Order: sequence, then C-alpha cells, then structure tokens
Amino acid sequence: MAKTKTAFFCRNCGHQSPQWAGKCPSCSEWNTFEEEVVQRDKGPAGVAPKLSIHAHPAKKVEDLESQIFERYPVVDQELHRVLGNGIVPGSLILFGGEPGIGKSTLLLQLALQQNHIEVLYVSGEESEEQIKMRIDRVGLNNPKCWLLMETNVENIEAHIAQIKPQLVIIDSIQTLYSPTIESAQGSVSQIRECATRLLKIAKQDNVAIFMIGHITKEGSIAGPKLLEHMVDTVLLFEGDRQHIYRLLRTTKNRFGSTNEMGIYEMQGSGLREVSNPSELLIQQHTNELSGSAISAALEGMRPMLIEIQALASTAVYGTPQRSTTGFDLRRLNMLLAVLEKRCGFRLGMKDVFLNIAGGMRLEDPGMDLAVIAAVMSSNEDIPLPAQTCYAGEVGLNGEIRPVSRIDQRIAEAAKLGMKKIIISKFNKEADNKEIEIIKVGRVDELVSVLFG
Ligand code: TYD
Ligand code: MG
Repeated sequence: MAKTKTAFFCRNCGHQSPQWAGKCPSCSEWNTFEEEVVQRDKGPAGVAPKLSIHAHPAKKVEDLESQIFERYPVVDQELHRVLGNGIVPGSLILFGGEPGIGKSTLLLQLALQQNHIEVLYVSGEESEEQIKMRIDRVGLNNPKCWLLMETNVENIEAHIAQIKPQLVIIDSIQTLYSPTIESAQGSVSQIRECATRLLKIAKQDNVAIFMIGHITKEGSIAGPKLLEHMVDTVLLFEGDRQHIYRLLRTTKNRFGSTNEMGIYEMQGSGLREVSNPSELLIQQHTNELSGSAISAALEGMRPMLIEIQALASTAVYGTPQRSTTGFDLRRLNMLLAVLEKRCGFRLGMKDVFLNIAGGMRLEDPGMDLAVIAAVMSSNEDIPLPAQTCYAGEVGLNGEIRPVSRIDQRIAEAAKLGMKKIIISKFNKEADNKEIEIIKVGRVDELVSVLFG
C-alpha cells in the first residue's frame, strides 16, 4: 500500500504548506488553505534518485547555439500578432478568461482554421453534439482537425502519442484529472499535476498546447495564477459580455512582446477579427452633441481612435456621484480636481459620468486630454470642434505632458480623416502634413483653443 500524503494548498496562489495556516505566507490572502491528498503511488518509495552529471551537462554560455524558433503562421491575424508572429512548436500557452467570454469559440475557430497542420481539440466541457453545433455555427471545416472527449490526462497523452498532432487545444485545464492524484477535479493539486504532464508532453513531443483556464471575477478558482509560472505564454481574453467586443491581451510571452493586443467582435457566426478598431469605435460619432471627444489613444503598440463621452450635471442628491466605465475612477477624480483648481470650473457640486465607447478598457494616460475636453464640453453644453482629436497626459499642475508614440497617433488620426489633433507642446518631434497639429502647454490654453 502506498502511503497517503496530504498537504495544504492556497486556493489563490497555489502555495503549498505542510500545515494549515489562516493567512497565506505567499499571497497574504486569508482563509484560502485547503487540505488535499497528494498521493503518488508510482515509483519505489524511499529510493533516492541516482545523481548523474552526464544526463544534463553544464555548458559555457559561449558554446550555446542561438535558437531560431520556427513558428506556425496563424490564420487568425489578431492571434498571430498577439502570440508574437505565430505559434512556437513545443510551447505551452494558457488561455484564460471568465466563463462565457468566448474562449471555446476562439480556440475552436483556431483549430478549424489551421488546416496545414494536424490539430487535436480535447473537450472535457461539452458534448460532441454541442461542439458540432458550434462548428456549424462558425461555418469552418478542417479535415486535419481531430476531436476528443476526454478528461483523463493519461488517456489524452496516449491519444497525442497516436495522432501526433502539432497543435493541441485543451478545453479546459480545470476539467482534467490524473488518476495518480486522489483529490477532486479542479483542485489545486490536480490542476498542477495535469499542467505538469502537459508541459512534459509539449516539450518532449514538440507539440504546441493551448490550455483554456477559467478565471472568475473574484479569482476564486485556483489554477490560472499558479499556472502562470509554468507556461510559456499567458493570453487573457476579456471584455464586457454585454458588449460585442472582446480583447485578447498577453501578460506573459517568452516568445514575443506583451504589448500586443487583439480585438474581436462576437457575432452570430463566431468571433470576427477587428483589424481596424478605430473605424468601429468612432463610427457613430455625431459632432453636434456636447460631451463627446475623440482620443488618439494607444493600446499596447497599436494606435486607435476612441470616443470618450462625459456627462456633467447638477447633483440632485447631497454628495455628487462620479462614475466611469472603462476608465480609472481615481484618475477622473484627479482630472476633475485639476479642472476645478487650474481653470476655475465649478465641478464640486456636479455629478460626472464618463464612458469609453464599445466597452473598451484602456490604461493609456494619453487619454487625459480627451477626458478633460469631454467633461468641459458637457459642463458648458458646447459641442467640441468637429474632426478634432486629442492626445496628451495631464499633470497635477495642469500642465499637458507629452505622450509616447505621438507620430503613430497622429498618423492614425490623419488616416481616419481627422482635421486637427491637439497634443502637448513638449512633444517636439511631432510632424505631419495631412493634419493640423495644435500644441498646448497647459489646461487653460486648451480652454481657449476650444471655447475661444
Ligand atoms: P463560449 O466560447 O462558450 O465561451 P467560454 O468558452 O469562454 O465559456 O461562448 C460564449 C458565448 O458566445 C455564448 O453565450 C454564446 C456566444 N456565441 C455567439 O454569440 N456567437 C457564436 O457564434 C458562438 C459560437 C457563441
Ligand atoms: Mg467554454
């Protein structure tokens, strides 16, 4: 009989401890420790592994050969770019996102589009009929794509050895289990064990593996956090389920940059790549309305024009409300304080609401200028000048700071037919013949440019 061994795992970060603790010493969360059985009955117990220096000899750095990763091109251009120009064979990729966001749809589309390589799609979540329905819905077909309904990681391993695919998709890591571990499916030790097995397969057989992992808003399901260390690339699929746009970001990539972002639109027939986001995000823009400004923002490396809407109205109840969608609330409060102090706008008794079009959530400080313009326009009820966009960061003293990649922002604005762009006067290098560039140094200068 193999000895039963238990350990305690933190549900949040996966930290392992021999005894229970109220507070996790690793991530400082309270009440996250759970006892789990970690029984490994394979292999003779008590026999120390033989030490060998020949299996993996140490090498001098100058003797290392530089590796050029050959990649499989991805048909889906957004995914291609986000992955760092293709899929690296033998890489393990974690694809995280909240339930219902479209993870299964996107990766099924990937499996069906990659018809130049052998693909295996493993599902532990849906029935064959459900997947068939989805395949019909997205309207794609790939004779080289295999489908497998399986949750036992050892069986999956055997199928991979037989089919020899170049790409495997696992939907999802939380549904897999290994019979050598006694704890329940989806528990920390099961997820860790299954992911370790998949990592080994990926490296040994040189097969690229995508693992889908669910994350809830509260982060209550363990897994994705502890998997991040193990995998080569972490992709996050996010967006508001009420909106049709989905953003694909990367938070870790051993084979590329983490600055890239992909945008998709959820349609009746699957996810469509949005290759020119700006046109989508400002198409409904009407110039006659006050409170709306267009920001030449940057998401990752990609410039995009995005509409910002503000509403400032007299507060009906005692304390004025401030609410934002897609923008940092504290940053809005800071910008309102700057407007009040530096330009004398009386916003203290106003409710202020701020929206970023299309359910986008960006963290580009270059949007400050457009936010301020939108708030002032709503407050005065005067529409902003037509075909004008903004790119600048606002400092506490009301100074307009320069922003990065200004040339690309200006070029994007010009491409989309903007006539003017207002930027910081400290962005010296900026130049473009197709669009009028107006430079401002302080917030009060912006007021005179906009309202005379
Ligand atoms: P799904 O890929 O199942 O999400 P996840 O795997 O992340 O849980 O997709 C979820 C939603 O997408 C589902 O509510 C239905 C919707 N959907 C569409 O709108 N159009 C489509 O073509 C498909 C396949 C799904
Ligand atoms: Mg799914």
